[in-house]
Amino acid sequence: MGRRVTTRATPPDATRLGTARALPWRLDCHVAAGDDSAAADELRRALGAPRPWIPARWFYDDAGCDLFVQITALDEYYQTRTEQALLDEHMDALVRGHGITELVEIGSGAARKTRTILDGMEGAGTLRRFIPFDISPGAITASAADIAAAYPGVRVHGVAGDFSRHLSRIPRRPADGRRMVAFLGGTIGNLDPPKRRTMLRRLARLLRPGDCLLMGTDLAHDPEVLVRAYDDAEGITAEFNRNIIRHINHAYAGDADPGHFAHVARWNARASRIEMHLRARRDIDWNIAGLGIVVPIEAGSTIRTEISCKFTRESVRAMYEDAGLALAAWNEDPLGRYALSVATPA
Ligand code: AVJ
Repeated sequence: MGRRVTTRATPPDATRLGTARALPWRLDCHVAAGDDSAAADELRRALGAPRPWIPARWFYDDAGCDLFVQITALDEYYQTRTEQALLDEHMDALVRGHGITELVEIGSGAARKTRTILDGMEGAGTLRRFIPFDISPGAITASAADIAAAYPGVRVHGVAGDFSRHLSRIPRRPADGRRMVAFLGGTIGNLDPPKRRTMLRRLARLLRPGDCLLMGTDLAHDPEVLVRAYDDAEGITAEFNRNIIRHINHAYAGDADPGHFAHVARWNARASRIEMHLRARRDIDWNIAGLGIVVPIEAGSTIRTEISCKFTRESVRAMYEDAGLALAAWNEDPLGRYALSVATPA
């Protein structure tokens, strides 16, 4: 599993607790700058595999996060706005139906959907605590104070960690509360079946009777529409894909030219998933000094950078059942492209 550095950081405002301006939030930080040995090992293994691939986490440096925000505004990328519309339509009923007192958001990132859920809880008069969980302490810090200020009385308890290692650090809920764990954006689709299974079981462990899991999943539908969502006319997704090379170059003193890779998005019907690859336009020897490797890439060969699995109601139900959960609600958009589902402990 590699070295683990655990630090507990206190946000600057907490030093002023007791003054009138203190905001009620805290951050437990389980990731430290430089604590990337596990990620480095994973990347070295992935690039050395018979079919080289790159873990999708490498998309998300600052430039990659900006590009992803641009993707969410593209006509072709219907996922984000469809999920938001489903949240707008169904959130109040879901929150009231379950009497939710606390929201645990996995990969809290963008604030808009968070606020839709918190608004529902506030409207129902049950909002007590918000627990954002994210790999980036900066992302939590950036939103925590705003959320604390916008929802008077809410306690914000951020947990910065890696969801493959630190989900168990999320605090227990009080006996008289009811928790919703939200895992949105279709991110579950980025995990292959074994990792997905582990993830769902870990999420299930955060739930007690009365609690629920809210998940967003992209659905299997017209392959042409799906491929276009990952290969837009403006080439933003292509840039997002190539940026993964730039990020790794920057992190580990690599020397590949991102321009020597072509963006590929394809539908894998058998596995019901979109795959993104980078195809070498020429022979490349990618020297990554910081990892101590040279990756030989033949012209025309590909490196897989992402899988994005597409589901059906039945496959979602099966994945919940496998984790000891039961499908309690299913909301899909009128075009059958995206679903927001709720699961409860079986
Ligand atoms: C936010 C990770 C779910 O798989 O659709 C968007 C990422 N990749 N375009 C997805 C992504 C290419 C997105 N996730």
